Amino acid sequence: MTAPVLKPDHDAIERAAACLADGGLVAMPTETVYGLAGDATNPQAVARIYRVKERPVFNPLIAHLASIEAAFEQGDFSDKAQALAHRFWPGPLTLVVNATDQTTVCDLARAGLGTLAVRVPAHPVANALLQTVGRPLVAPSANPSGRISPTSAAHVAADLGDKIDFILDGGDCSEGLESTVIDARADTPVLLRSGTLGPDDIASVWPGLTRGGEAGAPISPGQLLRHYAPDARLRLNADAPESGEAYLGFGPGEATLNLSSSGNLAEAAANLFSMLRRLDQSHDRIAVAPIPETGLGLAINDRLERAANRD
Ligand code: TXA
Ligand code: MG
Repeated sequence: MTAPVLKPDHDAIERAAACLADGGLVAMPTETVYGLAGDATNPQAVARIYRVKERPVFNPLIAHLASIEAAFEQGDFSDKAQALAHRFWPGPLTLVVNATDQTTVCDLARAGLGTLAVRVPAHPVANALLQTVGRPLVAPSANPSGRISPTSAAHVAADLGDKIDFILDGGDCSEGLESTVIDARADTPVLLRSGTLGPDDIASVWPGLTRGGEAGAPISPGQLLRHYAPDARLRLNADAPESGEAYLGFGPGEATLNLSSSGNLAEAAANLFSMLRRLDQSHDRIAVAPIPETGLGLAINDRLERAANRD
């Protein structure tokens, strides 16, 4: 049985919320990518998410909350972490903080860590669902672990439709890349995963950002070298395709598909995953045009490098 794809009206939100409260799994749109939502307080629901995604249980999940106040109840937020939250929530930012004794997010969702990743999403459908359920929802990207993240309801239906209960169709995701993940526990912020909120955005509120993870420490699946992977072989920074290759362009010129013919990085980010999927269906090899290493280009190149890695 394939999960029904529902227009997210009031009735559908009520049905989805009841299903979640009962331990079910619902794919929901967010402004970044589609998430596979489950009740963060219910270890059975969380276990099912790991199973459905074939995700290693040592990779913790993000708890999504309906409001800043609800998020602050779950973890220990320093003044600086609170300032980031007030500036960018609701929005594409995830903060890693120490869990408090009051946290209702179960151990399995946190992979047994004393820390907790939290986010208040900006998408109206995600927000309505969170409000209606009234508990934290974990929501990893709704794709099999390691594969390309979904930015439409059709992507979710194709990847996981036979394994979950409902899909709420909120159209295409406006951002197209997963949230920026910041470890907010120390005196200065640490970047665990790049996203559409860039280093300058973070620094405008809390200076001193450093990159985490190089030394092997905290496990963020977004940091795994091979991630976001298509079946096709990717060749990056290609000025032109070779024979047999599809060409994913950026800026003016001939291309099989173009991330943004006007060279707009936000448009390119929003198109990245869906265009990779489309080319992956028709080609074994994909050449990708150079993307400038500035602004949003940093997050786009990060995803492309992981998608291209064959190690
Ligand atoms: O935009 C997003 O964040 C999407 C939408 C659906 O909200 N969700 C998402 O979830 O990308 P997921 O599970 O695919 O990625 C979660 C990221 C991973 O890099 C994970 O390792 C990191 O957050 N993370 C979660 N808990 C953590 C923790 N306690 N410490 C360090 N990293 C953590
Ligand atoms: Mg993911």
